[in-house]
Amino acid sequence: MKRMEKVLVKKPATILGIETSCDETAVGIVTDDGNILANEVLSQFKAHEPYGGVVPEIAARNHVEHVDLVIAKALENAKIGIDDLDAIAATAGPGLIGGVMVGTVAGKALALGTGKPFIAINHLEGHALSIRLTEAVDFPYLLLLISGGHCQLLSINGVGDYLRLGTTLDDAAGEAFDKTAKLLGLGFPGGPKIEAWAKEGRPDRFPFPRPLCGKPGADFSFSGLKTAVRRQADQLANDNGVIANQDVSDIAASFQAAVCDCLLDRVQTAMHMFRDEHGAPSRTPAFVVAGGVASNQLIRAELKTCCSREGYSFHAPPLWLCTDNGAMIAWAGIERHLLGIHHDLDFASRARWPLDETSETKIGSGKRGAKA
Ligand code: KG4
Ligand code: ZN
Repeated sequence: MKRMEKVLVKKPATILGIETSCDETAVGIVTDDGNILANEVLSQFKAHEPYGGVVPEIAARNHVEHVDLVIAKALENAKIGIDDLDAIAATAGPGLIGGVMVGTVAGKALALGTGKPFIAINHLEGHALSIRLTEAVDFPYLLLLISGGHCQLLSINGVGDYLRLGTTLDDAAGEAFDKTAKLLGLGFPGGPKIEAWAKEGRPDRFPFPRPLCGKPGADFSFSGLKTAVRRQADQLANDNGVIANQDVSDIAASFQAAVCDCLLDRVQTAMHMFRDEHGAPSRTPAFVVAGGVASNQLIRAELKTCCSREGYSFHAPPLWLCTDNGAMIAWAGIERHLLGIHHDLDFASRARWPLDETSETKIGSGKRGAKA
């Protein structure tokens, strides 16, 4: 299985990865041949549920209280000691800065204490490369990254070589799911709730707008859709603000269908841009979808159909690898470690960190801050 163009560091390699950029305290341990020795995810869901979204201070405090325990549990499950690791990787951004700092400091402390190299990982790179942990997908590939804080189309040309083809002008896809679920009173996180309610609903009942569909480029916009959903929900609510269950299901299904159409339209444009970028392909071009929203079954199925129509192979990580986890950070650490890329211990945590640092930053304000 070909995973690297250039191997500078000797194999085998085992890396521990720490993820604390949002509301999961997660630690994974993986090897260079794709063996997942541990993947511990401690969700803070209960702590944030009463607030209907992630509260940054509560998230940071929870990470401080649990990160060492989750690291210990991961090592125990992997049945290895710290000395068996070749390097320590940690998400150093983008994300909620308090939480990011907790994970980065924990990673640096482990590296310092053991004398192992430290690798700072961009959370988006974790998602972007996660497919290569479970499948032999070679560079370059077209990536749709859809999560709670990000919505981007990128050409993944190699480790650290990313070209952004499109991004959101306002909300991220997952954020649109979360906000819609909140206004329908379905709870948090919204994506899985909307998907479940949509199963009983009619996707064609409400013709919600499909922002930017048919327009040139591969950028996204979801705020107009969100406003249309709010108006419709207000109309359907009774005097006590209650919406009948069937109406909730119909809104959920119609909203999900609109998001799906927007994603498909933009992906189709990006597929042409990707072909223009890379010229005539010597192999079938590969399309990868990653991030929490990639767990949505309708979106996965529609993207797969779009790939067959456009002549792309379709790849999606297993569901447990789509949402935030430590294994994807450890894997990105493996990819960098094998290329001899390590970081100094003064590498600063950052709230904003675009994957394609050459792209103009577009400002957004999702749960993770920057969409770029
Ligand atoms: O990648 P992720 O775990 O965290 C971020 O990096 O943001 O993604 C979380 C997002 C949330 O917005 C959540 O509502 C959404 O992914 N999500 C879904 C589904 N499962 C999670 N959205 C739609 N359908 C789902 N089944
Ligand atoms: Zn994520």
